[in-house]
Amino acid sequence: MKDIFHELLSSGNIIKNKEVLRPSYIPSFLPHREKQINELASILVSALKGEAPSNVFIYGKTGTGKTAVSTFVGKHLMKKGKEMGAPIHFIYINCEIVDTQYRILQNITNHFIKGWDERIPFTGWPTDEVYSRLINSIDKAKGVTVIVLDEVDKVKGDEVLYNLSRINNDLKEGKASVIGISNDLKFTEFLDPRVKSSLGEENLVFPPYTADELKDILSERAKLAFKENAIEDGVISLCSAKAAQEHGDARRALDLLRVSAEIAERLGDKSVREKHVRMAENKIELDRVREVIRTLPLQSKIVLLSALIGTKEYGSLTTGDLYSIYEELCNRGGYTNLTQRRVADIISELDMMGILNARVISKGRYGRTREIEVPVSNKIKEILEKDESLPDVENYKPKLQSKLL
Ligand SMILES: Nc1ncnc2c1ncn2[C@@H]1O[C@H](COP(=O)(O)OP(=O)(O)OP(=O)(O)O)[C@@H](O)[C@H]1O
Ligand SMILES: [Mg+2]
Repeated sequence: MKDIFHELLSSGNIIKNKEVLRPSYIPSFLPHREKQINELASILVSALKGEAPSNVFIYGKTGTGKTAVSTFVGKHLMKKGKEMGAPIHFIYINCEIVDTQYRILQNITNHFIKGWDERIPFTGWPTDEVYSRLINSIDKAKGVTVIVLDEVDKVKGDEVLYNLSRINNDLKEGKASVIGISNDLKFTEFLDPRVKSSLGEENLVFPPYTADELKDILSERAKLAFKENAIEDGVISLCSAKAAQEHGDARRALDLLRVSAEIAERLGDKSVREKHVRMAENKIELDRVREVIRTLPLQSKIVLLSALIGTKEYGSLTTGDLYSIYEELCNRGGYTNLTQRRVADIISELDMMGILNARVISKGRYGRTREIEVPVSNKIKEILEKDESLPDVENYKPKLQSKLL
C-alpha cells in the first residue's frame, strides 16, 4: 500500500518552524520598538514598587506592534515581579471579543478566581455586584493589577472605561491601572472627556514602520522560521516595500512572507522567490475580497453583480446604467428592487470596501454622475458565480444603451 502520509509528514524545503510565523507568536526581540518598550516600561515600573502606574492610552495604525509590545512588556513585568516578590497581576482582554461592561468586569474578576464553580457566569448577575466582586478580588490579591484593554474602541459604551480608569478610588489594599489600545483615532474624539483624561494620563503613539524597519523585522523572523538559503535575495525587501506602500504594517509584511513561503513549498520549489511574493499578494487580496463578498447582504451582491455585468459589457458605467441592469436582474431573480437612492448608497459602501471604484464625473450641464469600474472583476466573477442565492445570469445581456458611450 502506498504510504500516503509519508510525503505530507516529511518536511518541505522551506519552512523550519511554522509556529514562528503564526500571527499570535510574540518574538523575544522586537526591532525598532525599543523606544516604545522603554516608555511603557518606565510607566509600569511603579508596579514593582507597589504603586499604581498611570493609566496609558496607546494609539497607532494597524500592525504597528501595539499588541506585541504590550504583551511583551507585560511578560517581563510579571517575571520581574516574581523575582522581586512583588505581586503583579497582568490581565489582557481583547475587547473585539469581550465588548460589554458586564463581560469585561466578569473577565477581570474571574482571572482571580481559581475554582470553576465560584466563577462569575457569562450573564445574569447585576453589574454592580460583579463590580464589587472585582474590587474585593483586586484588594484580596494585593499588589498591582494591570489591565490591558486591547481594541478598546470596540467596547460598547463609555461606562466601563470610566469605572475602570478610576478604580483606585474604590480600592483599599490593591492597586490597578489600565492600558487602553486602539488603532482608531476617531475613537478618542468621541470619547467622554472625563474618560479621555483619566484613561490617557499617559499617551503613547506607535508610528508606522518604514520599509527598512520592516526589512529588519522580517529578517529576524526569517532566521527563526526558514531553512538556510530558503529565501532568495530581494524577497524580504519586496515584502517590506509592498507592506510599506499604504502604511508600514508589520502584520501585512509577515503575512506576505508567510503566504509566499507556503506557496513556494506547496509548489515543491527549493526556495522562495519574488514571483511567489506576487502570487501571495494575489492570494491575500482574493481571500480578502472573498471574505467581504461572502458577508455582503443579498441586495449588495446583486448590485455588485450588476456592476460586473455592466463593466464587462461597456468597460465602465454610470450609476443610472447600473440601476437599469440591477432592475433587470431583480426581475429575473424574482427579487423586489430597491430605490435608485438606496442602490447609490450601496455603490458607495462597495466603493469604501474597495470592491469597486466609483469616481464622480461631471457631465456638464447634465449634472454629475459616477463612473463605476470593478478592479478585480475576474476574481469577483469567480466568487459570485458560485453564489447560489443570486439570479442566474448565464445567457443574460443587458438591454440598455450605455449613457457613457
Ligand atoms: N517590532 C516588531 N518586531 C517583530 N514583530 C513585530 C514587530 N511589530 C509587530 N510585529 C508583529 O507584527 C504583527 C502585528 O503586530 P501587532 O499585532 O502588535 O499590531 P497592532 O499594532 O496590535 O495592530 P492592530 O491595531 O491591528 O491590532 C504581529 O504578528 C507582531 O508579532
Ligand atoms: Mg493589536
